[in-house]
Amino acid sequence: MPMLDQIDTLFSEAQTEIAAVTDAASLEAARVKFFGRQGQLSQIGESMKTLSKEERPAVGKRLNEVRQTLTAALDERAKTFAAQRDADALAQVDLTLPGTPPVPAGSLHPSTQLLDRAVQIFRRMGFALADGPDIEDEWHCFDALNTPADHPARNEQDTFYLPDGRLLRTHTSTVQIRTMETQAPPVRIIAPGAVYRRDEVDATHLAQFNQFEGLYVDQGVGLADFKGTLEFFFRELFGPGTAVRFRPHFFPFTEPSFEIDVKSAGLRGGQWMEVAGCGMVDPAVFEAVNQKRGDDAYDPEVVSGFAFGFGLDRLTMILTGLPDVRMLVENDVRMLSQFR
Ligand code: PHE
Repeated sequence: MPMLDQIDTLFSEAQTEIAAVTDAASLEAARVKFFGRQGQLSQIGESMKTLSKEERPAVGKRLNEVRQTLTAALDERAKTFAAQRDADALAQVDLTLPGTPPVPAGSLHPSTQLLDRAVQIFRRMGFALADGPDIEDEWHCFDALNTPADHPARNEQDTFYLPDGRLLRTHTSTVQIRTMETQAPPVRIIAPGAVYRRDEVDATHLAQFNQFEGLYVDQGVGLADFKGTLEFFFRELFGPGTAVRFRPHFFPFTEPSFEIDVKSAGLRGGQWMEVAGCGMVDPAVFEAVNQKRGDDAYDPEVVSGFAFGFGLDRLTMILTGLPDVRMLVENDVRMLSQFR
C-alpha cells in the first residue's frame, strides 16, 4: 500500500479509536498505541527512510498534519476527562457542612448560663431587671434596710469600707431601696449582681460572689403570692419534683423572714439545701423609703410586698455538682468546657 494511503488509513483508525475511548486510562492506551515509541505513527516515520527523495516531502507533510490533528484530538478528550473528574470530586463535597472555625468557639460560663435561666423565669412572671452600684453608702446597704449601727453585718470585720466611709455592698438588697426611691408601686424587680464580704476564701466562700435579689410590692401582696412565686421559680430551675421549704429565720428588713430550702431527687443526694433568704418587706423599710422620697407612696397601711435574695454561685454549684466554689473563678477551661 502506498505510504500516503497507509497514513490515511491509520488516521481514520486513530480518529475512530480516540472518539471511542471512555476514560482517561483507555485514552492513554490509545495515545501509546499511535504515538508511543513503538507506536504506529512512529513506525511510519521510521519507514520514511525507505522512500525516495521525491516522495518524502509529501509524505512528511501529511504525516505532520495527521500528528497535529490527532494530538489535538487526544488533548481535547484528556481535558474532558479531567473536567469530569473534577466535577465528580465536587459532587462529593457537601457544601452545607459547617466550616472549620478559625479559633475554637468558647461558651458561656456556667454561672452566666444559670443567670440567664433565672432571669428568663422571672421575666415570664413580669419581673423587670434593675441594678445598682457595687460601691454603696451605708444608707442603701444598712440604714434604709432597718439594720442598726450596732448590727454585726456593719462590723469592719465583715464589710469592706472605703476610706471615705462608703463600702462595697454586702448584699443586693441595696437595689430594693434604690428602686423604691425612684419608682412608685407597683414594683416587680429582679437584681442580679456582685456582692463583697470579708470572708476567708475556702471551698464554700469567696470574698466576691453573686446574689440575685427580687422585690415585689403592690396593694394586697400576701404570703401566698410570695410562696407561689418562689416555689414556681425553684421548680422551673431544679425540676417539677423539687420540694420547697420555708424555714423561719431573721432578717432586719423582712418580717416575717424565712430561709428557703429545696430538695430534689437528682441534686446533692436528695438532701435539703439552703438556697435563699426572703420575707415580707418590713414596714420600717417602707417608712425609710418614704422618708427619703418625701412622700407616702409606700404607705405600709396600703402596700405590702415580699423580697428574696439567693446566692447565684451556690445555685450554680448545686446544678453543676462542682465541689468547690473557687472553681467558678479560676477560669480553667478543663472545667468550663464541661458545661457548654
Ligand atoms: N440580703 C440577704 C442576705 O444577703 C438575703 C435577703 C434578701 C433576705 C431579701 C431577705 C430578703 O443574706
